[in-house]
Amino acid sequence: MRRLLPLLLVLTACDAPPAPTPVDDPAGWMVAHADLYLEDRGARRAWIESSLWRPELPYASKRLDAYALPAGGWDALPEMQARTAAVAADGSPMPWRALPDDIPADLAGWRALGERVFHELPMRRDAYVEWLATRPDLWDRAGLRIEEGAIDGLTRFVDWRGDERVGVTCALCHRGDGVPGRAARALDLGWARSRYVESRGRPPGAYAGWGRGRLDVTEDAVDDPLAIADLWTLPWQSHINTSGAVRLDTPAALAIRFETQFITGHAFAVRPPRHLVWALAIYVLTLDRPVSTAPADHPGADVFARRCAGCHDPARGYAGDLVAPDGLIGDHGPAFSPMRGTGFLKVPGLIGVGAGGPYLHDGRFATLTALVEAGHPFGDPPPADDAAALVEFLEHL
Ligand code: HEC
Ligand code: HEC
Repeated sequence: MRRLLPLLLVLTACDAPPAPTPVDDPAGWMVAHADLYLEDRGARRAWIESSLWRPELPYASKRLDAYALPAGGWDALPEMQARTAAVAADGSPMPWRALPDDIPADLAGWRALGERVFHELPMRRDAYVEWLATRPDLWDRAGLRIEEGAIDGLTRFVDWRGDERVGVTCALCHRGDGVPGRAARALDLGWARSRYVESRGRPPGAYAGWGRGRLDVTEDAVDDPLAIADLWTLPWQSHINTSGAVRLDTPAALAIRFETQFITGHAFAVRPPRHLVWALAIYVLTLDRPVSTAPADHPGADVFARRCAGCHDPARGYAGDLVAPDGLIGDHGPAFSPMRGTGFLKVPGLIGVGAGGPYLHDGRFATLTALVEAGHPFGDPPPADDAAALVEFLEHL
């Protein structure tokens, strides 16, 4: 009880927003609601309004001012071309391939289409990544992966001006070690970006300090790089992003989040074909997950139940709702970010967490042992035996 006390205090002292009732079968829900998404603007508008539960945040208002309006706004943008080519490691031309226009007939069809979107559709184009693609000497240090002769996560495409470009796909950041859904914790885009600006004769900037597996996703004055997230617990999450700025009250919120991400990533000049982002959301909701190899009676499971499960729910892939950061050891910056700060932090899922750190949104702990011994979350470390058992349990989730 003594150990539970700080937890109870924090949980009762804060007024976290009510968590939405999760949909039982998110992928099935999406297949059933595809027509509504594709044909009913009003439905999309209602979904985005309920998912952006803090409408006054700049992140939210920018979207609410432009998405699914009765006229104009982002709906009026032309669709981007879904014709792309892999980026060969040796620079040789690769065949162009087009994502299909057809609406899939069933879950398997949606999922297969979504997997292609994850690998092929450029989410954005950044000058520094395009430059990196021409510098094989830097790939290893930057953490790029070569697979079957191509750079994983980069794609060639034709932009709205008709120029051939290199863009990044979801796979660049969310297919670490070649495992779909795993954060690319070795990827060091901040380092690559600092090399790029230096090559242009400018000082390296704050990017150099982002570190592997992290990047600043908000375009504001604050340098607040965040860890790339693992994507396996999306079906059970109440919110996404470190600060929980998007509420997953329906799985449609995920597709809309991706749709608007492509629009911002392409300078508000084009929008992605909607059936492709719907498919993408179905794919990420149905990713194969690492299977826990920890026996149910592992001594660490008991420590976890006592000290951790109040936030990290074992029935939800160890994800949880939003918590107020008061008392939590670590940096609370994202909870108060000018763009997306909700005053809360998301409790991340822990499936596959043993695959390697660094841990927490700022990557402050290199290993699970360091995180546990520092006494995450409240600076109250378990006795040595419990800590060792807990770490071993976490390594097998
Ligand atoms: C350049 C790297 C990068 C690319 C490319 C990228 N992401 Fe992410 N993603 C991130 C980072 C960093 C975060 C964490 C942001 C945060 O915590 O606020 C994130 C978070 C997410 C989340 C929220 C997870 C959670 O639990 O909060 C989802 C879902 C997601 N990404 C899906 C995608 C999809 C789908 C694509 C392709 C359209 C994609 N991402 C492309 C870096 C990337
Ligand atoms: C009060 C709620 C709360 C409790 C209790 C709690 N956590 Fe957390 N946990 C969080 C939050 C919030 C984060 C994200 C913090 C951040 O990114 O800065 C987190 C992050 C983590 C991470 C990092 C995941 C990653 O991918 O980087 C691990 C591992 C973790 N917790 C394990 C534990 C363990 C083990 C316990 C029990 C000793 C525990 N947590 C108890 C709220 C909690």
